[in-house]
This record gives sequence, structure tokens and C-alpha cells, in this order.
Amino acid sequence: MKRHTACMRTICIYHSQTGNTHFVMEELAGMTGAGCVRVVDRARYGKATIFLLGVPRALSGSIATVDPTEIDVQDYDLVILGTPVWAGRPTPAARAMIEGILNGSEKKVLVVCTSRGEPGDTAAIMAERATAKGMSLISSHHVTFSADGSRNNEEMTALKKAVMDCMEP
Ligand SMILES: Cc1cc2nc3c(=O)[nH]c(=O)nc-3n(C[C@H](O)[C@H](O)[C@H](O)COP(=O)(O)O)c2cc1C
Repeated sequence: MKRHTACMRTICIYHSQTGNTHFVMEELAGMTGAGCVRVVDRARYGKATIFLLGVPRALSGSIATVDPTEIDVQDYDLVILGTPVWAGRPTPAARAMIEGILNGSEKKVLVVCTSRGEPGDTAAIMAERATAKGMSLISSHHVTFSADGSRNNEEMTALKKAVMDCMEP
């Protein structure tokens, strides 16, 4: 796919615990010339605590403490937000990264979530939180990953097309 850099300054901001969301965002960044910010949850979950602590926190809408704590998007036209799905919700770190966005008002935003196929309310919650920051929602997307790490190519193609449509003047 053709690489666009000049039309729209783009930033990908995302949380990724095990790499799937990172993989998607890196591909979008490679295609668009976007910058990437991967937020890290200071909770540093292990295999057990991610379910014992992370899931209840995701369900309750908890906001994590993440690094970086703030991300200024003043210099960008398009913001792509990414999160894994935890219990049908965005991760606490993804909620934190949206709260930490500075100068997001009226910026175009595209929401991406990755899951094993049951995204629940994740995209809707991400869109709602982003619009609450004054951002202007273009579209929401979901990419399914199977247990072996392979992704749904149709969903990925639809996502890439939506991003490229945004890049056109
Ligand atoms: C704590 C936890 C909860 C999850 N909950 C769901 C879920 O509700 N629905 C689903 O389809 N996948 C669920 N998954 C699978 C992840 O959403 C999926 O593997 C995602 O692509 C991981 O993204 P990442 O590699 O960027 O962290 C869950 C995974 C974890 C670790």
C-alpha cells in the first residue's frame, strides 16, 4: 500500500500488553509515517494478576497510572487510539492514555481495539472517552487475533482503508 506522509500529521497512541495492538499500530505507522506512543501501565501485571486485578479494574472503568502520563497532540491532525480488549472493555491503561491527552480538542480520532473476537463495549467506550475530550470521531475498528497470533486480514484491510481515506486531502 502507498505510503503517505505529507497530507496529515498522524500519531498512534496505544496500550498493548502482549503485542497484538502494538503490531497493528506499527503497521499503520509504517503506512502513514505516524509517530507512535506506547503507554506502559505501572501495575506491570503478571499472568495471574492480569486476571485477578486487571480484569476487575477494566470492568469497573478504573484508570491506571501510566507512562507517559501526558501526551500532547497539538502538532497532529489525526490521532489513532489503540487498546486491547479486557473483559469487553478498554484496559485501565488505555483509559489513562486518553485522559492524559493534551490539546485533543477537535482533533480527528480513529479508535482501534484488538481482541480474541469478543470486543464487547470496548470501541464504544473508547469513542465516548475520546469525544468527551473534544475529539472528533472518524470511525471505530476491531481486529481479531487468534490464539496463535494470526490476525483477521479482512478487518485489518478495512482499518487500513479507513486510515488511508483520512490521509486524502
Ligand atoms: C485480562 C484479559 C482479558 C481479556 N478479555 C477479552 C475479552 O473480553 N474478549 C476478547 O475477545 N478477548 C479478550 N482478551 C484477549 C485480548 O483482548 C487480545 O489477545 C488482544 O489482542 C491483546 O492485545 P495486546 O497483545 O495488544 O495486549 C483478554 C486478554 C486478557 C489478557
